[in-house]
Amino acid sequence: MNPPVKKAVIPAAGRGTRFLPASKAIPKEMIPVVDKPAIQYVVEEAATAGLTDVCLITAEGKEAIEAHFAAAPELEAALEAKGDTERLAAVREATDLAQMSYVIQDEPKGLGHAVACAEEAVAGEPFAVLLGDDFLDARDAALADMCAVQQRTGGSVLLLIEVPEDQVHLYGCVDPVAVAPDDLPGEGELPDGLELFTITRLQEKPAPGTQYSNLAVIGRYVFTNTVFDVLRETGPGRGGEIQLTDAIDTLAAMPVEQGGGVYGIVFRGRRYDTGNKAEYLKATVQLAAARDDLGFDLRAWLTEFLADD
Ligand code: G1P
Repeated sequence: MNPPVKKAVIPAAGRGTRFLPASKAIPKEMIPVVDKPAIQYVVEEAATAGLTDVCLITAEGKEAIEAHFAAAPELEAALEAKGDTERLAAVREATDLAQMSYVIQDEPKGLGHAVACAEEAVAGEPFAVLLGDDFLDARDAALADMCAVQQRTGGSVLLLIEVPEDQVHLYGCVDPVAVAPDDLPGEGELPDGLELFTITRLQEKPAPGTQYSNLAVIGRYVFTNTVFDVLRETGPGRGGEIQLTDAIDTLAAMPVEQGGGVYGIVFRGRRYDTGNKAEYLKATVQLAAARDDLGFDLRAWLTEFLADD
């Protein structure tokens, strides 16, 4: 049996230009979705899947992210003195999620390069990668399923969504072969109902009409440390950047005994994209509408607002 996945890497070094001017002086990951910074939802997702150590890849000028996950003794003491236990708990929530560490990516050389920066932090263990631009609804979490497939197979695992043909060019895309859970290599129980594929090839943002399939890679991955060996040998790809997708394409062609083997799980649950303004607004409304403290009023107001419009 392969060791369980306990570590997560979250690349968050990008400039966030799509969110300018909001992201001029604060990292885009700190922009709130309802009342928590977007990055906290991603760390929560890792923690919910049982991951205990989170390494954030950041860049200079993004220190607010680290401050958010650190203890704030003065603020906590002030809330405690006021007896404001609710806000105190909300403040402490971010601190208690996981053991956090930070690595600075000093040059924006691509997602593959960002992941490679975590090699020391994950120290020989399998690990998950969660991209900060989207997060999955806690009610539909998929990361624990991915970790189970990784633990059983010892390979790499990707989360996939079906997208309309004309949107595949926005994503990494896979060449999938359906596989029944019982036919997966290795031993170990898997959760019921997984829609599984063996991935034979990948392409990063294929030109329209050239895609292998309409199954797109969303920002959740589980790897062994073999990915670091492969990333070292991966030259610049699309956009002149070191592409994680290119490294996974190499892993897909490698024998299992050498750390190869790539599997995909299809995700059909609720997912929030906070990577662009329109999707971010939808995520904010959807999550607020589902909250006990805000949902009732917000839904009533939305109905009225739309009727008036
Ligand atoms: C990255 C990856 C891409 C993946 C996408 C998911 O692209 O390179 O393969 O499909 O994330 O969100 P980005 O959206 O950062 O350009």
